[in-house]
Amino acid sequence: MTNNPSLNSVTAPGIPAARTGEPTFRYDVAVVGLGYVGLPTALALHKAGKSVLGLEISCRRLDDIRAGRADLLPSDNDRLAGALDDEHAFQMTTDTARLAEAATVLVCVPTPIDHHLLPDLKPLAAACVDVVAHTVSGQTLILTSTTYVGCTRDFLVEPLRRRGLEAGSDIFVVFAPERIDPGVADHAQADCPRVVGGVTEQCVAHATELLAACAGYVHPVSSVEAAEMTKLYENTFRAVNISLANEFADISRGLGVDIVEVIAAAATKPYGFMPFHPGPGVGGHCIPCDPHYLLWQLRADRVHAPLIETAMERVASRPGNVVRRCGEVLSTTGTMLAGAKVLVLGVAYKPDVADVRESPALEIIDRLRAAGATVSYADPHIDLIDTADGELTADPAPEATEWDLVLVHTLHRGADIAWLERAPVVLDATFRLHDLKHRHVL
Ligand SMILES: NC(=O)c1ccc[n+]([C@@H]2O[C@H](COP(=O)([O-])OP(=O)(O)OC[C@H]3O[C@@H](n4cnc5c(N)ncnc54)[C@H](O)[C@@H]3O)[C@@H](O)[C@H]2O)c1
Repeated sequence: MTNNPSLNSVTAPGIPAARTGEPTFRYDVAVVGLGYVGLPTALALHKAGKSVLGLEISCRRLDDIRAGRADLLPSDNDRLAGALDDEHAFQMTTDTARLAEAATVLVCVPTPIDHHLLPDLKPLAAACVDVVAHTVSGQTLILTSTTYVGCTRDFLVEPLRRRGLEAGSDIFVVFAPERIDPGVADHAQADCPRVVGGVTEQCVAHATELLAACAGYVHPVSSVEAAEMTKLYENTFRAVNISLANEFADISRGLGVDIVEVIAAAATKPYGFMPFHPGPGVGGHCIPCDPHYLLWQLRADRVHAPLIETAMERVASRPGNVVRRCGEVLSTTGTMLAGAKVLVLGVAYKPDVADVRESPALEIIDRLRAAGATVSYADPHIDLIDTADGELTADPAPEATEWDLVLVHTLHRGADIAWLERAPVVLDATFRLHDLKHRHVL
């Protein structure tokens, strides 16, 4: 496919070129949703020579992207600068009608959970309504947002059929789950294989042409449902194993054994073991959310999945356990949570990102405050957070205060933690501060 947008048409290797009368498209791809997944994907596709239209519902997000305020890896920031200079092959818009200008439409909108841990399908449903309304014959639609099994058919294939567009002949529809690891340069999207399940083989072939430009290789599966289930299995696997690692950490502390040493030793086994690490809980847009999409759909069929349910219950209860442990370690100094001055160090859900979605730190802070503690936080990536009591701004100089307790929640690369040696009580929820003097492990 050429980088010259005027020459592009819907063709893929091994697939007949567009028949006379079939549309040509201004862009190779439209990316719907320019968030943690969509923006790096759009930039990777542009870097690979594709012409890209980014569709984003939020003007504020577009302003942030244009002003270089998006939370990106340095390499993606370089790509963004290049893309913004290439008006011809990289544009961003809020105009959904322009989706008709792209040969392929790739949907990367959020699939969060609500306060009751139920899937919130509103953003995905709304985006799919827009996509379906503007689909033109010959387009390829790629749904990448994590979702329940059957969603691609419910939200795209069936509504398109009602519009008279048959997947596999008039248009091409696949589900290709995203595996990006935002903020982690070692897990480059370009090296990661991409699973694709289509309504027909022809659909997979069409999608493969685009996805191969930003993936290690494409692994086809036999159906959209198999691809949807693959993503749910991957992230449920992580949720279950992280819950197990947390449980082993709690048990090991009780038995006076160092869990970090145990995990490192177990990881020497060349087969049948994969290390997962304990921590203050899981956050982000994937592990605390995705398994709930599966559990939700199973509930409708009265199907019980006790192992997954227990793991997700443990995921949800972890922040409360962290707060209980804060009380325990404070009590070793004759202090209580009520009235204590507590610092939460690092509130991002993982190192080196500015993302607090589902971060355990948020619930931990609310619970510590509810227990009567005076809570501050420090995080070089995050200036402001929302708490149950309103906005809280980061302490820019946490080393200048005498804290009763420092809870180390997230350690960003290069963080200055030398001053922690002076803190009287440190609760290490990262399990990484082995050499610290007054350290308690979670
Ligand atoms: N963040 C991750 O680590 C990660 C990894 C793999 C998969 N995923 C999955 O990818 C999907 C996207 O996640 P994300 O982290 O990028 O979400 P995000 O919230 O960072 O970004 C989504 C973007 O979509 C925009 N948007 C919402 N509705 C829209 C619409 N109708 N039209 C245009 N734009 C719209 C939002 O404004 C936002 O900028 C989710 O399903 C998630 O589960 C995320």
